[in-house]
Amino acid sequence: MSTGTGKDLSSMRKNYYLSHLAEDNVSKDPFEQFRLWFEYAQNSNIIEPNSMILATADKKGIPNARVVLLKSFGPEGFLFYTNYESTKGKELLENPHAAIVFYWPNLERQLRMTGSVQKISKEESERYFQSRPRDSQIGTIVSEQSRPVENRQALEESFYQLKEELEGKEVPYPENWGGFRFIPDSFEFWQGRPNRLHDRIQYKIDSGNEWKILRLAP
Ligand SMILES: Cc1cc2nc3c(=O)[nH]c(=O)nc-3n(C[C@H](O)[C@H](O)[C@H](O)COP(=O)(O)O)c2cc1C
Repeated sequence: MSTGTGKDLSSMRKNYYLSHLAEDNVSKDPFEQFRLWFEYAQNSNIIEPNSMILATADKKGIPNARVVLLKSFGPEGFLFYTNYESTKGKELLENPHAAIVFYWPNLERQLRMTGSVQKISKEESERYFQSRPRDSQIGTIVSEQSRPVENRQALEESFYQLKEELEGKEVPYPENWGGFRFIPDSFEFWQGRPNRLHDRIQYKIDSGNEWKILRLAP
């Protein structure tokens, strides 16, 4: 089939061979396994290895997805920041279930998580907001994220106007902006392998609140 680009997508495929993953060579703790993979990605010349696809659904279950940046992680969860009144903000506030995907093609790795989010405290969000570059803080305030804007010029004018108004003052923290902590209830580590026989190692919490490791068919 032609794609209009002169390249036939149906014959585009790649064999994966870089690494492997087995039940007995992963950590028993998925957060530790995440840390190992994430650190490796950070040291692998990947552009923005902390960019992740965040999937949400509204209260009717209609899905949506976009990229956000992971800002910290640990056993307590995975932190990202956004506008609480944006499309994703509203979706997460009405339905906290979410999923996250990292895809690091150079490493032939995909990392998936399912779980739910909690809004972090205003104090924690404010602390992070104050650590951001001043122009990003101003940009955050003037952008009513996910709402229509008249045109690019209107957006830039409000940025420069606010920048002037705040000259010499601290940029006030906007309470409609802050962090969500994503708390996973499953992880899946996918490593590409030859012949489509990829490794998929899944962690799920069992009834005894322990992480159970399973291998899934590719
Ligand atoms: C590399 C990259 C990083 C991004 N990081 C964030 C982020 O951390 N927070 C955020 O709100 N939007 C981020 N965005 C923009 C979102 O993808 C999206 O356009 C925006 O948040 C509006 O989404 P929504 O309408 O679903 O709420 C990023 C986009 C890209 C491509």
